[in-house]
Amino acid sequence: MFDSGVGGLSVLADIRALLPHEHFLYVADSGYAPYGDKPPTYIAGRSVAITLFLIAQGAKAIVVACNTATSAAVGTLRGQFTVPIVAMEPAVKPAVATSKSGVIGVLATTRTLASENLAQLKERFGAEADILLQACPGLVERVEASDLQGDATRKLLEGFVKPLLQRGADTLVLGCTHYPFLIPLLQDIAGPDVTIIDPGPAVARELRRRLEMRQLLSDSSTPGRTRYWTSADPDHLKQVVQNFYADDIEVETLPAA
Ligand code: DGL
Repeated sequence: MFDSGVGGLSVLADIRALLPHEHFLYVADSGYAPYGDKPPTYIAGRSVAITLFLIAQGAKAIVVACNTATSAAVGTLRGQFTVPIVAMEPAVKPAVATSKSGVIGVLATTRTLASENLAQLKERFGAEADILLQACPGLVERVEASDLQGDATRKLLEGFVKPLLQRGADTLVLGCTHYPFLIPLLQDIAGPDVTIIDPGPAVARELRRRLEMRQLLSDSSTPGRTRYWTSADPDHLKQVVQNFYADDIEVETLPAA
């Protein structure tokens, strides 16, 4: 699995819960984050380099645990590699089914919102609901800095979310894997009547389905292990993972491509 940083850990949690006997390799490309304001060719280059690394470590499937990398690179990855590639998609469909007001807000990076995939989702579901797109520049950096509750993060998030609420949104889609870490703050800002949709559990089910289809599921009955690499400071990732999972882990430096 990989992400531009710690965001994919939110997806890893859902996947580990569903597939506890698999081993996982997680790359946080924090040295190159945020991806959200970089050109697609740059993101595709990083995604290919990391996928090559993961396959060299023995990965039997790849999870692109990053919406931005999905929008910029999933076609390239699927064209270049034969292992199953599971990727993120903003959960617009379940949001449209959930919303009572018929107004949903999609929070994501600028790059994801500009993607072809999102344009298609808007076209497909735009007749059933008013789909409001909200780019959230600066939010990935707050999560990378582990500032999930502070004043700066709250102010930033309020600035993105309040206009959506004022326009009647009752359902918010998290279109970036960093954002699930902000759910407690987001729910506090939006209030208890607003539904927040995190696509992590659906991605975990999709991975299990793809592994089953290719008969790649582990038949082990012992708990799987997870190894971590980062292109930034290993101590920082170690701290974040330990806070999140209470796991005592080792983090290695991602070799330069
Ligand atoms: N977690 C990434 C995503 O899902 C963050 C992208 C970024 O680094 O800007 O989009």
